[in-house]
Amino acid sequence: MAMASRIAAVAILLIFCSASFSRCLADLADDKRALLDFIARVPPGRDLNWRPDTSVCSSWTGITCNPNRSRVIAVRLPGFGLNGRIPPNTLSRLSALQTLSLRSNGLTGPFPSDFSNLTSLTSLHLQLNSFSGPLPLDLAFLTNLTVLNLSHNSFNGSIPFAISNLTELVALNLSNNSFSGGIPDLQLPNLKSLNLSNNHLNGSIPVSLRGFPASSFSGNDLSPIIPVTPVPLPAPIPSPVIPTPSPKHKKLSEAVILGIVVGACVLAFAVLATALVLCRGKSGDNVVSGKAVKGERSPEKAVSGRQDERNRLVFFEGCSFEFDLEDLLRASAEVLGKGTCGTAYKAVLEDATTVVVKRLKDVGAGKRDFEQQMEVIGRIRHENVAELRAYYYSKDEKLIVYEFYSQGSVSSLLHGKRGEDRTPLDWETRLRIALGAARGIARVHMENNGKLVHGNIKASNVFLNNQQYGCVSDLGLISLMISSTPPASRNGGYRAPEVIDTRRSTQASDVYSFGVLVLELLTGKSPIHVAGAGEEMVHLVRWVQSVVREEWTAEVFDVELMRYPNIEEEMVEMLQIAMACVVRMPEQRPKMAEVVRMLEDVRRVDTGNRTSSEFKSDDANSLTPPQITSAGGDPSPQN
Ligand SMILES: *[C@@H]1O[C@H](CO)[C@@H](O)[C@H](O)[C@H]1NC(C)=O
Ligand SMILES: *[C@@H]1O[C@H](CO)[C@@H](O)[C@H](O)[C@H]1NC(C)=O
Ligand SMILES: *[C@@H]1O[C@H](CO)[C@@H](O)[C@H](O)[C@H]1NC(C)=O
Ligand SMILES: *[C@@H]1O[C@H](CO)[C@@H](O)[C@H](O)[C@H]1NC(C)=O
Ligand SMILES: *[C@@H]1O[C@H](CO)[C@@H](O)[C@H](O)[C@H]1NC(C)=O
Ligand SMILES: *[C@@H]1O[C@H](CO)[C@@H](O)[C@H](O)[C@H]1NC(C)=O
Ligand SMILES: *[C@@H]1O[C@H](CO)[C@@H](O)[C@H](O)[C@H]1NC(C)=O
Ligand SMILES: *[C@@H]1O[C@H](CO)[C@@H](O)[C@H](O)[C@H]1NC(C)=O
Ligand SMILES: *[C@@H]1O[C@H](CO)[C@@H](O)[C@H](O)[C@H]1NC(C)=O
Ligand SMILES: *[C@@H]1O[C@H](CO)[C@@H](O)[C@H](O)[C@H]1NC(C)=O
Repeated sequence: MAMASRIAAVAILLIFCSASFSRCLADLADDKRALLDFIARVPPGRDLNWRPDTSVCSSWTGITCNPNRSRVIAVRLPGFGLNGRIPPNTLSRLSALQTLSLRSNGLTGPFPSDFSNLTSLTSLHLQLNSFSGPLPLDLAFLTNLTVLNLSHNSFNGSIPFAISNLTELVALNLSNNSFSGGIPDLQLPNLKSLNLSNNHLNGSIPVSLRGFPASSFSGNDLSPIIPVTPVPLPAPIPSPVIPTPSPKHKKLSEAVILGIVVGACVLAFAVLATALVLCRGKSGDNVVSGKAVKGERSPEKAVSGRQDERNRLVFFEGCSFEFDLEDLLRASAEVLGKGTCGTAYKAVLEDATTVVVKRLKDVGAGKRDFEQQMEVIGRIRHENVAELRAYYYSKDEKLIVYEFYSQGSVSSLLHGKRGEDRTPLDWETRLRIALGAARGIARVHMENNGKLVHGNIKASNVFLNNQQYGCVSDLGLISLMISSTPPASRNGGYRAPEVIDTRRSTQASDVYSFGVLVLELLTGKSPIHVAGAGEEMVHLVRWVQSVVREEWTAEVFDVELMRYPNIEEEMVEMLQIAMACVVRMPEQRPKMAEVVRMLEDVRRVDTGNRTSSEFKSDDANSLTPPQITSAGGDPSPQN
């Protein structure tokens, strides 16, 4: 009988393994030996009928072979009373293994490091055992894994970022272990089911995982302000009709658009109310659960449903929004301006909280890239970088919510109301603008492993923070646009020469743009302006370079600055820094951190010999004669 079945088996092998008969036999024999080695060291509590003289594929309990019976592809031994460590170099020799289930046993010791040899593995179930210690980074080799269930063990350490390599993963269950530290930003496009509950994880839920229900993360020490999902916008916002010649009509259409934007936000906020309550109730947990119930949906409901994940407004940590739905309904709003990346609106709430809502247009980046970039930008907390508060991404609409700065942009401070009864922008403030902006950009350049590029530095994207220092906004958006360089018409004067060819912004091109900004502060002139009777286009950088070459340096400075005494040395130093930033060869430009140091030195040199009252003097009738005379008159009158 046994003989007959053996002959049958060999016949089948002959059919399937005609090409490499001996190799085929050898593989199965190797698998058999590996399994026998395994149970020799981990004897099961019940008989498995694993005997050297029987067929692995047809009579061994828990074993499945491939169709041509040349390899073992599945081992399922749930609840077989297996105790102790998995001996090394046993199961790991089953190199064709696709499914391994050892759940509900008494297995101990670390995650077997040689499992990284099991590269065909698609399902691994080790839950309900007593494994301990950290997960090995070698896990990353199991790239075909779709299900990984390690729940109810004693694994500890952090969740390795290497899990991101398991891109086929559909289900990941690490619940009821002792994992600690932050949750890595796992980029797992196929993940449908996730459970990290009942560990010791802290920090916040990364953007990539915010679509999962709250119960995926319960029983940890995570910060409460996180998943705000899903927030359906009522309907796709219709595209604005931009080319409308009549200014009245234009205003109207923008008002309508804004109404829709705010309406959308309002609805978003409505569902977000529960989350905001969570945010406010940080101090007392009773408040959290109590108030959450008041909302239409519990927080769990509000965050459930991965299918709705695409419709949500995502807030960044900190949640300093002190307004609720009703406030927002009463918000007034106005168009602030159209920029390179879209139109900005100012939304003022009843309690005077003001935010900037920016509708991005021509976004070329996909959702994942967009989210990643937002996460990078949103993480930046610096007094010289405008804070990104929230964002929204859907197919039809991309919104970002920024902090609002009341004094307007440096562009309007510098060029607004020229010639009328304007308050001149004093030298002190200009220095602080340059220094603040430089610090902000230097901070931006540190982000993303030192690779983040601002990409859109210009006076209209620099604001004054509470301390009256410069503060940069709109960073990192250019790289998300369909064309990653701003059109020359909008940004020409700030754009580094090499960007015209490479069509890529870099940190060096940021330095160039910053140099142009400093020249603008020094001269009071726009980067590209019309001058002379011939209405000739003047390129600020080229003009300054030519004037300085002629050694008429004094001529470049803003006439408004002539009233401030004893600043010429500082102005000349600033001019030199700006000139260093705008040199033609990108590699010859200083790094932003160096620029910050140079600017700080400008200040240090002179703070000793001047009192602050002298600085603050912006008495328009000050009779202090200008220290620097404009030899040939102002060569380019203000427009
Ligand atoms: C047996 O089938 C597997 C696929 O299931 C195939 O990869 C392998 O080459 C086959 N073996 C032989 C010897 O034909
Ligand atoms: C299996 O892993 C061990 C180390 O864990 C290694 O020495 C061995 O070469 C691997 N075998 C195969 C077939 O990859
Ligand atoms: C495992 O995945 C790799 C690609 O990552 C693929 O080439 C290979 O065929 C897969 N192996 C199995 C057994 O599915
Ligand atoms: C994991 O992915 C990273 C980058 O995605 C790669 O550098 C690394 O080699 C991968 N590790 C393994 C073990 O495949
Ligand atoms: C993981 O294991 C737990 C406990 O046995 C079980 O409830 C759950 O369904 C498993 N999940 C997956 C994806 O296999
Ligand atoms: C993990 O647990 C082991 C004991 O099983 C312990 O020695 C080790 O310090 C723990 N590691 C961490 C990071 O908690
Ligand atoms: C999982 O862990 C939690 C908290 O430690 C515990 O309350 C719960 O009973 C555990 N679940 C199981 C099935 O043991
Ligand atoms: C994970 O395992 C727990 C119990 O251990 C179970 O309740 C839960 O449903 C599982 N979740 C997933 C996503 O497999
Ligand atoms: C998270 O916990 C680790 C220790 O497990 C600690 O070092 C770290 O500071 C904590 N992080 C936060 C944000 O609480
Ligand atoms: C995760 O597992 C816990 C038990 O550990 C369970 O209560 C919870 O419902 C699970 N969540 C999901 C999404 O499977």
